[in-house]
Amino acid sequence: MPHPSPSRSIAGRTAIVTGAASGMGRATALLFAAEGAAVAVVDRDRAACVAVAEECGGGARAYALDVADADAIVGTIATIAADFGRIDILVNNAGISSFCALDDPAYEEVWHRALGVMLTAHQRMVRAALPWLRQSDAARIVNIASTEGLGATPGDTPYVAAKTGVIGLTRGLAVDLGPEGITVNCICPGPIRTAMTDAVAEEHKVVFAKRRTALRRYGEPEEVAHITLSLVLPAASYITGVAIPVDGGLMARNA
Ligand code: NAI
Repeated sequence: MPHPSPSRSIAGRTAIVTGAASGMGRATALLFAAEGAAVAVVDRDRAACVAVAEECGGGARAYALDVADADAIVGTIATIAADFGRIDILVNNAGISSFCALDDPAYEEVWHRALGVMLTAHQRMVRAALPWLRQSDAARIVNIASTEGLGATPGDTPYVAAKTGVIGLTRGLAVDLGPEGITVNCICPGPIRTAMTDAVAEEHKVVFAKRRTALRRYGEPEEVAHITLSLVLPAASYITGVAIPVDGGLMARNA
């Protein structure tokens, strides 16, 4: 049975955030740290990782990891568990833009990289962290998918396949881990201002957001981080297996 008055605080919990050197991962790491969690800031960009861990303070530590490297995942999770003594929260957020036309000679390569970084890595991170998550009284997993997992933009099949897979993986994990009280949810961000969307010119961002979103604007990484926080609270004990759009109403809008 859940605690009758479950906590709405993550203070004292240990959280792993992948892709935490930039964008939504960085915003999530900073928010979790501000809420009193000890954060493992994980990213392939070592220097940026160290900088974000310093910004977080509160005992945050940086871990350089390419999440496409299966052996490195196992080693990094073991190091994090040894450093912090516990793992309560895992946010699988690392991602890469993977636009590629079907007849592009690099298609196979882009496909494998997209699925490796944004789908296979998620299950590997979860399986490696499970022994410690199982010891937590409020274990929480959040995977960052995309509205590209709910619909599709032309020329984006590797990314769409990976993100749709994340939604399916989330459901499967929720069902498998539910009996142990571990919740697994995913967030589907819409257009968010991060390094990933830097290449989109400001005037295109404005036009796109006005045409496509209910709120008529791009989102900020912090607006996603707050929903991720809400899903990892101990009090979020009866929500699992869902995909929540945080998209300014992109999926809601027809015209
Ligand atoms: P970002 O480019 O600002 O941050 C992504 C971070 O992931 C970077 O720090 C990068 O170094 C790291 N990363 C990439 N590959 C990695 C690897 N193999 N191993 C470890 N770290 C790796 O991008 P953003 O937008 O913050 O992306 C975060 C997540 O949100 C991604 O999964 C992305 O697909 C997803 N997303 C982004 C949207 C947007 O509009 N920005 C919309 C929907 C989903």
